Amino acid sequence: MNPAEHPSFQAVLSTVRGQVQNYLDKSDEVISEVARTAPAGVSERMTKLIARKGKKIRSTILSLIATSGNEPADESRIAHACAGIELLHLASLVHDDIIDETTMRRGERTAHVEWGNKVAVLIGDYILSQAMRCVINEKSRDIPLMLSTAANSLIVGEILELDNAGDMNLSLVKYNSIIEGKTAALVEASAKIGAVIAGFDADRVEACGKLGAHFGLAFQIIDDLLDYGIGATNLDKAKFTDISNGLVTLPLIYFFESVSAEDKASLQDLLKRAAEPGVPEEICKRLEEAKAFEKAKETAMQHIADAMEIADSLPMTEHTHSLKTFLYSMAERGN
Ligand code: FPP
Ligand code: MG
Repeated sequence: MNPAEHPSFQAVLSTVRGQVQNYLDKSDEVISEVARTAPAGVSERMTKLIARKGKKIRSTILSLIATSGNEPADESRIAHACAGIELLHLASLVHDDIIDETTMRRGERTAHVEWGNKVAVLIGDYILSQAMRCVINEKSRDIPLMLSTAANSLIVGEILELDNAGDMNLSLVKYNSIIEGKTAALVEASAKIGAVIAGFDADRVEACGKLGAHFGLAFQIIDDLLDYGIGATNLDKAKFTDISNGLVTLPLIYFFESVSAEDKASLQDLLKRAAEPGVPEEICKRLEEAKAFEKAKETAMQHIADAMEIADSLPMTEHTHSLKTFLYSMAERGN
């Protein structure tokens, strides 16, 4: 498929989301109820956070897969599973913004900027605990297990990232482990949970998990490119947070493996001065010249292709077709 022949990610996302809108709306109701019934001190803050709408990529994938099988879809099961996924995602972002010291998320001031680190940590904790509670009555014991496994992976991925922050020699293998944990695991869980609700057998549940993981890896690589402003349109968060936090992502790994020791040392010097005006732009220029962004984009495209191959093995329904269109268009997202 040629991306030029396809509508933008925003357009595809809104069409595809529309196909599962009833599940997403029900999931929003579950989430609003959690916020509304939370204790004083939490309720109003959580209400404020959930009003800042995310893209709902994970729950869209979950809903599409859950409704792609032969069994009639159970609206309440899907809605509660989506709520669990979205709340886990939100909790991790609240904590991630504290760790990364970012000031903007979803176009608004981050939780810790509004309420301070101490309160923001606790709000994140509350949201995490409620995420797990969303699936407590789920009839398949696999689903709470998948959600909690994903939470563990997020934490481990984030710790691995922190332990390796500032390591200019970060290997490709370690980078992949980081993004498998911090991002791919949650999309993997979304896809697997959708597959369980669809009534798929164990092999197909695993295959859907792999589809989600490839999609998640592509998603994070694109995210890392967006952090440099590559492909960005209407970006609703700050640029250059990775280099200012000493984080080595795929473009830098590809740069370092392709240039001379002298060019590597020169870029490392620039990275130390990333906070100075004009320096991030100079870093971008060098990465661009070394085709490091291009190579990272190709890697993301390979993950999309791998996810598409698995999607081809699913029952060919209208929602599977939408899932494929959605997977493919993500590579062109601008925020
Ligand atoms: C965003 O990455 C961060 C994540 C996807 C995961 C963050 C995970 C944790 C903080 C640990 C788990 C926490 C809980 C509550 C289970 P990024 O910083 O590369 O992306 P960004 O640009 O959107 O911030
Ligand atoms: Mg971050």
